[in-house]
Amino acid sequence: MPILVTGGAGFIGSNFVLDWLTQSDEPVINLDRLTYAGNQENLASLANDPRHIFVQGDICDRALVDAILQQNQPRAIIHFAAESHVDRSIHGPSAFMRTNIDGTFTLLEAARDHWRNLNEAGKRWFRFHHVSTDEVYGSLTSDQAPFTETSLYQPNSPYSASKAASDHLVRAWHHTYGLPVTTSNCSNNYGPFQFPEKLIPLMITHALAGKPLPIYGDGQQIRDWLYVTDHCAAIRRILEDGRVGAVYNVGGWNELTNIDIVAQVVALLDELRPNPAGSYARLITHVTDRPGHDRRYAIDARKIEQELGWRPMETFATGLRKTVLWYLDHQDWVGRITSGEYRQWIDQNYGARP
Ligand code: NAD
Ligand code: TYD
Repeated sequence: MPILVTGGAGFIGSNFVLDWLTQSDEPVINLDRLTYAGNQENLASLANDPRHIFVQGDICDRALVDAILQQNQPRAIIHFAAESHVDRSIHGPSAFMRTNIDGTFTLLEAARDHWRNLNEAGKRWFRFHHVSTDEVYGSLTSDQAPFTETSLYQPNSPYSASKAASDHLVRAWHHTYGLPVTTSNCSNNYGPFQFPEKLIPLMITHALAGKPLPIYGDGQQIRDWLYVTDHCAAIRRILEDGRVGAVYNVGGWNELTNIDIVAQVVALLDELRPNPAGSYARLITHVTDRPGHDRRYAIDARKIEQELGWRPMETFATGLRKTVLWYLDHQDWVGRITSGEYRQWIDQNYGARP
């Protein structure tokens, strides 16, 4: 039986679809609106694969979602589609409310209708998996314990507030209507196909272009980093054996400051693509901080390890090397993205940050 993936032309969604089809013969219906962050080129290797059915469309379009569910009868929905960039949410929050909240609501309602018309076996088997973020838990001080699944929800940005709202909807659709849901709250991902406005690909592409490497504020903010295919594996495990109604925190046990991350990217580029002008470190520039910038995120991923036996396979050293090599090998992909709308975003976000 097929699965329905939303947002499968984005960074994590496309990695998930590619991974899924190397491990399973269950076809994937991929519903993606193709916003600036969606890129069908990520799925080019599936062009002749009948197991991948791409539908360009909006998760807020109830009639479309209903038709997809009716025609394909998926056994699970894996919901990635979202507006996902904190900085963009600060400049323009409304798209975040629409897709992340209204879109999740629309999907839940369509899923509920679909699910209640299934036979008993189909009802037991069906899953709605919601892909969320550790940012819903807010910011930690340096001496606080990492986030667990019972940490308070204290979102601080329009992005994290909209994801928190979507998590609450998913929870409520389970408790009120019995919809068989699972949710994962994951830390910062990195790896192939990440849109080059996020920290790691932005630093790689700027360094190669000889542009400044903009560090917000003092660069001492801490994130937990997870290689994207480890996140995909965690979602697959949850789909297989996760408890209905449960939340799982997913992370890399890998807390690093932003300045550390940039230093490691620079060291890899100095090794793999040395520049006659000297180390890329010369391009590091501190710029005005992000408003309301969360200081630290950290994930306690013991529950998913204890219940489902999932642990990350990549260390940060192995994952970052793979990532840098991928971007070095895919400069055409980067070149096609970093034109047009992307340039406007860079001007808007960094022009105002002396
Ligand atoms: P992304 O921005 O790279 O991709 C989002 C995808 O959703 C794009 O393909 C876009 O076209 C699509 N989309 C947006 N609005 C849509 C709509 N209305 N209808 C249909 N499709 C739409 O995001 P990502 O980094 O791949 O993140 C995927 C999910 O994982 C998001 O829900 C995000 O909150 C969550 N998440 C991301 C991270 C991370 O570090 N990137 C970490 C934890 C959780
Ligand atoms: P980002 O990739 O936008 O993810 P998030 O804000 O969701 O964690 O940013 C990761 C960290 O890097 C965050 O603390 C902000 C910081 N950052 C910079 O210092 N400079 C930049 O140009 C960008 C894009 C991010």
